Amino acid sequence: MTSMSSLPPALRLGVNIDHVATLRNARGGVHPDPVKAALLAEQAGADGITAHLREDRRHIREHDLAALMAAISLPLNLEMAATEDMCNIALDTRPNAACIVPENREEVTTEGGLDVLGLRGRLTPILAKLKDAGIRISLFIEADDDQIKASADLGADIIELHTGRYCDLPAGMDRDMEFNRIKAAARLSQSLGLECHAGHGLRFDNVAPIAALPEVVELNIGHFLMGEAVMMGLKPAIIEMRRLMDEARQQ
Ligand code: PXP
Repeated sequence: MTSMSSLPPALRLGVNIDHVATLRNARGGVHPDPVKAALLAEQAGADGITAHLREDRRHIREHDLAALMAAISLPLNLEMAATEDMCNIALDTRPNAACIVPENREEVTTEGGLDVLGLRGRLTPILAKLKDAGIRISLFIEADDDQIKASADLGADIIELHTGRYCDLPAGMDRDMEFNRIKAAARLSQSLGLECHAGHGLRFDNVAPIAALPEVVELNIGHFLMGEAVMMGLKPAIIEMRRLMDEARQQ
């Protein structure tokens, strides 16, 4: 019989509500409201809300952050670039966690992982200020041993593994290799005392193998859920994602 202590930790779902704001911004005005989406996500069983304040403010804006912090009881994971400006906004907002992502103005979405090794000099003072304010530090990186070790050396609390490549590849050897890289990275991060999250590109049809990795304790999912919200509604989409995650976890 399996003892309770041998079960993997519960898998949290962080719902990224950026694209509700993208839709709102397409027309200006206030509809649809990302805060309302966050509250619906909470009712549907989300464990956290994620929002990315981009330099060009193409989706979430500063006033959304303040409104989210006032309205939600779930922890907020603020995705942000490693800049002085963003650091000051995070210090004012006081999210539960700041997830540092690479940011390139022209990209459609976050394209690769953060080069923690190469950016050590820039990251060190920013992470120190965030940590001093009690904000947990998450670094969004590729499943790469050197980047994971550098994240641990810098004192990150969390690494979020970029699952975009795994999600984009068709079924086959290349995808299996990418999955194995993520699996090994999740193990390494846990052995170094880092909390392991994963995200980017996750959908109903590809979430299960990632959700089944016992070292991964949180998935952050946005674009697919918002797309499905148009088709089936936001709450049913989140409930179905939760179900698939829980089912994979139990196996
Ligand atoms: N995690 C991080 C760090 C991201 O930048 C994004 C995209 O904003 C996500 C997760 C969610 O990715 P997706 O929208 O493809 O689900």
